[in-house]
Amino acid sequence: MHAVSPCPLLSDSSSPLIDWTTMAAPREPEVIRDKAAMRAWSRRRRAEGKTVAVVPTMGYLHQGHLSLISAAAAASADPVAIVVTIYVNPSQFAPSEDLATYPSDFAGDLRKLASTGVVDAVFNPPDLYVRGAGRRAAATGGAISCLEEEEAAGDGHETWVRVERLEKGMCGASRPVFFRGVATIVSKLFNIIEPDVAVFGKKDYQQWRVICRMVRDLDFAIEIIGSEIVREADGLAMSSRNVHLSREEREKALSISRSLVDARTGALKGNTDCKQIKNKIVQTLTETGGQVDYVEIVEQESLVPVEQIDGPVVICVAAWFGKVRLIDNIEIDTRS
Ligand code: PAF
Repeated sequence: MHAVSPCPLLSDSSSPLIDWTTMAAPREPEVIRDKAAMRAWSRRRRAEGKTVAVVPTMGYLHQGHLSLISAAAAASADPVAIVVTIYVNPSQFAPSEDLATYPSDFAGDLRKLASTGVVDAVFNPPDLYVRGAGRRAAATGGAISCLEEEEAAGDGHETWVRVERLEKGMCGASRPVFFRGVATIVSKLFNIIEPDVAVFGKKDYQQWRVICRMVRDLDFAIEIIGSEIVREADGLAMSSRNVHLSREEREKALSISRSLVDARTGALKGNTDCKQIKNKIVQTLTETGGQVDYVEIVEQESLVPVEQIDGPVVICVAAWFGKVRLIDNIEIDTRS
């Protein structure tokens, strides 16, 4: 498993971006909705000698996603067949979360993917879960936000993948079903697509580490690439949820990336006391109108909290600005 080359926090100039507005040779990806057809497609590509790379997404694509595609395209010296999955996974949302309002624009996504010229297929299944009879009887056509009812019904989906320790802290503390849902759906996608390579964004740092650990522990023969965060010119980490920020909230939310950069600058100058660093970030975010969910400083691989920065760590932040929960992080290694 490896990470693509790092880019400076507030400049995405060195990140491997595809500019979808200027690509010369647009190419329509094949849209596949059926699991068996997806698996057959992948097997054909491998039989042709291609490396199959998958970029899992929930759609509403932005430049951050396109940089994942760029990393997938560069994943092998062999020809690469790239599959982008677009599937809003219900099981990673708790009933109180934003499944119903999660933004989507499938036609726009397809246009962006076509204009990269490198995406071969889009896997967009209608539903990847077996629904129980209880759910079918109770179905109202509304959004299904988690699958507990199916489990209770006795004949629906009931198999879950849990990365027991890594899923617990940070985002896992405030989103208790999130990583269970992610690990399960990513396992399903891996089993359906059988990729050689899969690319995940390091903006979702804990998610990336959870997937790496799951792949290691369950012997998936898949290389996981962690792709660097892509930011707007002013530093805001790109996210599909940014669209829900008002102009004022968006301006205030810049305090996240700014406080992370300040923390890194300070740490590299010797301010390595984690309690002080975390207090400062909490204070800055609160003063700018954010509501802090967590600020943690943890070892990069194990995500174990540290008290002093004296090796590779990552500062992870989650905070609400208005109704939008944003996450961001910065890696620091005072030894390098
Ligand atoms: O990061 C995401 O968009 C999702 O969590 C993922 C990995 C596609 C699983 O649904």
